[in-house]
Amino acid sequence: MTRILLTGADGMLAHDLRARFAGRPVTALGRASLDITDTEACRAAVRGHDVVLNTAAWTAVDAAEDEPEAAGRVNALGAENLARACADTGAVLVQYSTDYVFGDTPPTGAGTPWPEEAPLRPISVYGRTKAEGERRARAAHPDGVIVMRTAWLYGAHGRSFVTAIRDRAALGEPFTVVDDQWGQPTWTREVADGTAAILDRGVRSGIVHATASGSTTWFGFARTILATAGLDPELVRPAATVPGERPAPRPRWSVLGHDGWARLGLAPLRDWQSAFADAAAEIGWASAPPSPTDGP
Ligand SMILES: NC(=O)c1ccc[n+]([C@@H]2O[C@H](COP(=O)([O-])OP(=O)(O)OC[C@H]3O[C@@H](n4cnc5c(N)ncnc54)[C@H](OP(=O)(O)O)[C@@H]3O)[C@@H](O)[C@H]2O)c1
Repeated sequence: MTRILLTGADGMLAHDLRARFAGRPVTALGRASLDITDTEACRAAVRGHDVVLNTAAWTAVDAAEDEPEAAGRVNALGAENLARACADTGAVLVQYSTDYVFGDTPPTGAGTPWPEEAPLRPISVYGRTKAEGERRARAAHPDGVIVMRTAWLYGAHGRSFVTAIRDRAALGEPFTVVDDQWGQPTWTREVADGTAAILDRGVRSGIVHATASGSTTWFGFARTILATAGLDPELVRPAATVPGERPAPRPRWSVLGHDGWARLGLAPLRDWQSAFADAAAEIGWASAPPSPTDGP
C-alpha cells in the first residue's frame, strides 16, 4: 500500500488531506516535527514513503513582501529539499502551488483561463517564491513532481475569506468587497479528492489546476456566503481595488484552466457554487454567525 508523508500537517488543506487518506498509511508531520527548510531532516523524513504531499508553505502573502528571504526558504528551498529527497528514493512529490504564480493577462488573451503551461510571471514576493518552488522541485526531480495549483481556498480547519466575511457580517453593518478580482473559490475537501484521484491513476508528474470550475469575484463570493447563511446579501457593497492599499499586489484575473485533468483522463473539480453549498451545510455556514453581542 502507498505510504504517504504529509508535510505542514497542521494547516488548512492538510487537515482535509489527512481525512481523505485516513485508510492508508500516512505520516503527518507538522512544522514542529519537520521543518522543510532543513535539507537533512527532509531526507530522513521522506525515507520509507512512496508519496510526499507538501502543503507546508509560507502563506502570509503581505508579510512576504517584507521578508522575501524567509518566505523563499520555505516556499522555494523547502520544495527543492523535498523534491531532491524524493528523487533519491523514487518517491513522488505533490507540490501544492498557487494562482499567484501568474501575472495579469493570460497568453491566450484577456478573459481566458490560465493554461497550465502559461509562463510564470508572479507580481508579488509570495508568488515569486512559489513559482521558484515549482521550478526548483521540477528541476530536481523531473519525472516525479506533480504541481497542483490551487486558489481561493476555504475549509473547516482554518481562517479563510469565508470566516472573514462571516465575522464581518456578524457586526450587522454594511461593508465593501472588491468586485474586480476574479477567481475560483475552492473547498479544501475537493483538492484532497482531486489529489487522491490523481495518485490513484498512477500519475507521477505534470501540472494540474486544482480549483473549482466556474468563476466569480470576491464580491460575488461574499454575497453567496451571506445568502447561504440566511443573511441579507445587500450588506456587502461592490468596490474597486485600490492600488497599493495592501502590501502585496493581488492578481486581477485568477481564473485557471482545467485542460490538465482531461489530459489525465480525469474530470476537473466541480463548480464552485455546488461545492460551497455542500461545504456550508457540513461546516455549519448555512446559518448566521452569532452576533458579537450574543452571550455564550
Ligand atoms: N489558502 C489559500 O487560499 C491558498 C491559495 C493558493 C495556494 N495555496 C497553497 O496551498 C497549500 C496549503 O495552503 P493552506 O491554506 O493549507 O496553508 P496553511 O493553513 O497556512 O498551512 C501551511 C502550513 O505550513 C506550515 N509551515 C510553514 N513553514 C513551514 C516550514 N518551514 N516547515 C514545515 N511547515 C511549515 C505552517 O505552520 P505555521 O502555521 O506554524 O507557520 C502551516 O501549518 C500551500 O502550498 C499554499 O501555498 C493556498
